[in-house]
Amino acid sequence: MIPSVLPTYSRAPLTFVKGSGSWLIEADGRRFLDLGAGIAVNALGHAHPTLVAALTDQAQELWHVSNLYQIPQQQKLADMLVDLTFADTVFFTNSGTESCELAVKMARKYWFEKDAPERVEIITFDGSFHGRSSAGIAAAGSEKMTKGFGPLLPGFVHLPWCDHEALTAAINDKTAAILLEPVQGEGGIRPLPDQDLKALRDLCDEQGILLILDEVQCGVGRTGKLFAHEWAGIEPDIMMVAKGIGGGFPLGAVLATENAASGMTAGTHGSTYGGNPLGCAVGSAVLETVAKPEFLADVSRRAGTLRQSLEGLIAAHPDVFEEVRGSGLMLGLKCKASNIDVVNAGYDNEVITVPAADNVIRLLPALNITEDDIAEASKRLSAAAKQIEKTS
Ligand SMILES: Cc1ncc(COP(=O)(O)O)c(C=O)c1O
Repeated sequence: MIPSVLPTYSRAPLTFVKGSGSWLIEADGRRFLDLGAGIAVNALGHAHPTLVAALTDQAQELWHVSNLYQIPQQQKLADMLVDLTFADTVFFTNSGTESCELAVKMARKYWFEKDAPERVEIITFDGSFHGRSSAGIAAAGSEKMTKGFGPLLPGFVHLPWCDHEALTAAINDKTAAILLEPVQGEGGIRPLPDQDLKALRDLCDEQGILLILDEVQCGVGRTGKLFAHEWAGIEPDIMMVAKGIGGGFPLGAVLATENAASGMTAGTHGSTYGGNPLGCAVGSAVLETVAKPEFLADVSRRAGTLRQSLEGLIAAHPDVFEEVRGSGLMLGLKCKASNIDVVNAGYDNEVITVPAADNVIRLLPALNITEDDIAEASKRLSAAAKQIEKTS
C-alpha cells in the first residue's frame, strides 16, 4: 500500500524534534551536530532568537494578504536586496525552483519584447541542479531527473561544465541566456573558477545575451560574500535566490537588472504566497544579519578553520577521504569510500552531512557555527571515518 506521504524521498531513520544553533535533538534524545543545515537553508542555525522574534512578532500582526495589496515587509526586503546587490528589482517566490521558472520566463520575455522572439534557448551545464519543476528538470537535463516526465520544456542546450570552447560554439541567434550555479551544489560542490565566470560574463556581453546565475545554494553569505559571483567581480543580469534567504522559512527571490526585467510588466507573472509578510519579515532579519561585513568576514574565518580540519581528516583517513573542495562554508569532501556509507557512519556518530554527486559529502553548516562546534565536527567525522576503516 502506498504510504500516506508520497514516497519520493529516501529518508534516514531519524526524527528531529528540536533544534538550537548547529544542534538537532532526535526524538530519542540524541544530540546531532548539524553540518547540513537543511541543505544550506538554516543560514543562522536552528531557532535563532532574532529570526524567532521576527517570525512571531509578524505572526501576531498579519500573516497573509495577497499581492493584490501593498506589502511593506516585501518592499523593505526588496529595497535591501536592491541596495546590497547588482539588482534593480526583485520578485519573491517560495522556493528555488519557482525562482528558476521566473528566470526562464524573464529571459524569454526579454527577447520577445526586443523583437527577437526566436531567442528562446538557454544554455546550461552538466551536473547542474535547478529544482524539480518542469523548467528546473529541463534546465538540468540529467536522465535521473527527466526520465518519464516528457515531453520536457524545450529550449535548453546542455554543455559540459567549464568548457569555454563548447560554450562559444553553442551560442547562436536562438540563444537567450546562459544559466549556471557559480558553485554547483548537488553536482558535487564544483566551483566555477573566477576567471571562467569573468570570461562567461565577457562572452555574454560580446554576444548580447543574458547571464542568469543560480545562487539558490551558494548565495546569502554561504561563500563568505553575500553572493558567490562577487568573488569574480562580475554581475549577472538575473539571479535566482532561495534557501538561506528565508533561514528556514520557505522564501525565494529573483533579482534582476532593470534591462533584464523590462519584459515583466503587470500581469505577466504572479504568486499567491510569494513575498508574504511572514516570509519577508524573516528574510529581512536574515539579511540584516548576514549582509554585515563583519558577519561575512567571520564566515570566511570559520570556513578557513573548517577547511583546515577537513584537510587534516584527509591526511588521517586517506582511504576514506580524498579531496576537499568548495568555497566558504559550502564545502565538499570527495570520498574514496562510498559517500552514502560516510553519511550513514556520520549518523552513527551523531553528525549530519549531505551526499552529493561525484561521491562527495557536503558540509553546509550554519554560517554562524562556532569554533567549538567545528572542532567537534572534526572529531565526529574522524570517528565516522574510523568506523568505515574498521568495516572495510
Ligand atoms: C542550485 C539550486 N537551484 C535550485 C534548487 C531548487 O530549490 P527548491 O528545492 O527550493 O525548489 C536547489 C535546491 O537544492 C539548488 O541547490
